[in-house]
Amino acid sequence: MSSNYGPAFEPIEWHRNRVRILDQTLLPGDVRYIETDDYRVVADAIRRLAVRGAPLIGIAAAYGVALAAARGESATDAAETLRATRPTAVNLGWALERVLAASDVAGEAILIHDEQRAADLRTGELGAELIADGATVLTHCNTGSLATGGIGSALGVIKMAHRQGKRVHVLADETRPLLQGARLTAWELHQEGIPFEIIVDGAAAGLIAGGDVQAVFVGADRIAANGDTANKVGTYGVALASHAHDVPFYVVAPVSTIDARTATGDAIVIEDRGEDEVLSFAGARSAPGGAVARNPAFDVTPAHLISAIVTERGVLRGPFGGAIAELSAREAALR
Ligand code: MRU
Repeated sequence: MSSNYGPAFEPIEWHRNRVRILDQTLLPGDVRYIETDDYRVVADAIRRLAVRGAPLIGIAAAYGVALAAARGESATDAAETLRATRPTAVNLGWALERVLAASDVAGEAILIHDEQRAADLRTGELGAELIADGATVLTHCNTGSLATGGIGSALGVIKMAHRQGKRVHVLADETRPLLQGARLTAWELHQEGIPFEIIVDGAAAGLIAGGDVQAVFVGADRIAANGDTANKVGTYGVALASHAHDVPFYVVAPVSTIDARTATGDAIVIEDRGEDEVLSFAGARSAPGGAVARNPAFDVTPAHLISAIVTERGVLRGPFGGAIAELSAREAALR
């Protein structure tokens, strides 16, 4: 099933003081849901990447606080547990601040979710203008419905261009170690009927150099005040290759992913994950006994490598400092 206005599946749903989360660790093989009224289960799902992607992490955390409130538990304790799950995506703290300040916590969480769906559609329309008919575009990680709850950010732009009738072909980085590209982006592209090929992460630079890619679209977990952008590890390498070969490199993200309180990318905390994710493949140990690994989950792309930042409020061009300050001030005045 595919709809023009929303995801073909719901990655998270709130119903009568319970939350239903699509367990992304099991996709694409198994479509199974986690149902709970306990915020601790939501926190665990975020930690394990059963629910993931910066905007969706924020939505899940907001519903988590709503569960605590519904059971008469402390909203602030719940928020602290949820905040500690993953450090890089700014949407997590942003959504928690919103629900903690609200009198109707569940209502605010539902509003955050609804606003994200609307933001994705607007961003998709703005970003689709950057895709030429017949283009091959490259994307990294998963930035679709599974990452936002709407049509997606970077993947939403690609979906929108396809829905507008443009012929678009996608190269999806597999995104080691957890394969968000090969498992999740491919799952969504298949459902949308968008032609795609999965490539290993190491193939991206060569294909960009060879002229096989007309534009790159990626998401973001945190955008600093100067435009430096943290996203899934491997993004920086793709940005370097794009810059070297004059291929436009676009970051697509909701305004809630902009963190004007963080001056530059140097101050962004990068999540370190367990070494098992690197030393194993599909649940089986792939490295020799005694091998150790380093597993940063994100990297930072400096602003000068980014051609534009596409948001629901417009397309920002570099140098980004002034545009981000203006946008953040406008957003603050709206709240
Ligand atoms: O570790 P993940 O899977 O949560 O990382 C996701 C990403 O890096 C996405 O690109 C980012 O959150 C943007 S999602 C619209």
